[in-house]
Amino acid sequence: MRAVSAAGAAAPREGGLVDRYGRVATDLRVSLTDRCNLRCTYCMPAEGLPWAPDETVLTDAEVVRLVRVGVELLGIREVRFTGGEPLLRRGLEGIVAAAAALRTADGVPVRTALTTNGLGLDKRARSLADAGLDRVNVSLDSLDPVRFARITRRDRHGDVLAGLAAAAAAGLGPVKVNAVLVRGVNEDEAVPLLTWALEHGYHLRFIEQMPLGPHGSWQRDDLVTAREILDALAAAFDLEAEPDGARGGAPAETWHVRGHPGATVGVIGSVTRPFCGACDRTRLTADGQVRSCLFARHEDDLRGLLRAGADDAAIADAWRAAMRGKAAGHGIDDPTFLQPARTMSAIGG
Ligand code: 5AD
Ligand code: SF4
Repeated sequence: MRAVSAAGAAAPREGGLVDRYGRVATDLRVSLTDRCNLRCTYCMPAEGLPWAPDETVLTDAEVVRLVRVGVELLGIREVRFTGGEPLLRRGLEGIVAAAAALRTADGVPVRTALTTNGLGLDKRARSLADAGLDRVNVSLDSLDPVRFARITRRDRHGDVLAGLAAAAAAGLGPVKVNAVLVRGVNEDEAVPLLTWALEHGYHLRFIEQMPLGPHGSWQRDDLVTAREILDALAAAFDLEAEPDGARGGAPAETWHVRGHPGATVGVIGSVTRPFCGACDRTRLTADGQVRSCLFARHEDDLRGLLRAGADDAAIADAWRAAMRGKAAGHGIDDPTFLQPARTMSAIGG
């Protein structure tokens, strides 16, 4: 029997998450909540965003079940927990422990990671490492507390620095720092941020701002581009590009910094240097929807299936079918581009 995918094409009933363009998704991003204790301007409105109703949010057991199906039946090799802010999820350590115990069909332990804003990480880095978490990415856009507060709308700069230090001390490394440069606020911080990251042994990644915040807030002309960031860095550091092949499905183009053995800096040119052709991602929202892409305007419901008593094979089939419908690219530069209804906080980074 053949299942019919969202795209109308026949989908195979076994194997991994392969789309119509031959891309294979092996990296699962799981959003554990749409809530956050910051309000970054490029991600959320200052107020008024309705939260997902509690009953629509997957329980810990439901999350673990879907992750297990992904790893055991669908070839997922890496699981990254995101939000909103995943540290707001009470059962996080338990979910991480259950995920870290999973093995792929080939018997390989799954890799686990967390993308967090760092608030409260100082108190939980150790318990997360004990639960089996491998790595963290912490978001930090500015070294200046005042600018930090302008971007995040909260005065919590010191908490992030404490969270970063605790993550490094707990061995959740290499600790990566994600930075978004915003025109008119912190666009001049590429060099200071890298200098600081090198001092602390953090691996810095700049992310081009994507149209995933409050609707109407993103302007193509305002974008601080990968080119601009690289030009600024190259004027102050001696950068050596990693060989092309090293990028794999990873969105960051990375450079070694001469004179700093082991250090790398990355630039994720999501908008101006899209990497859709090599994308290996599949995403689950906190309310149990599969998204084949950050920019997808269509989602496929796994929560309903799960709660209707579907077995693992049926859930795997639905997930495969959802990924068959993945678009070739985000199409941000296409005149017909429409931003997804959900903001980044409800999709997961
Ligand atoms: N564009 C680029 N990056 C974003 N992030 C959140 N919203 C956006 C956006 N519109 C980043 C956060 C965090 C990660 C989850 O994604 O800064 O590092
Ligand atoms: Fe929260 Fe992350 Fe969005 Fe900032 S970018 S508001 S920290 S979810």
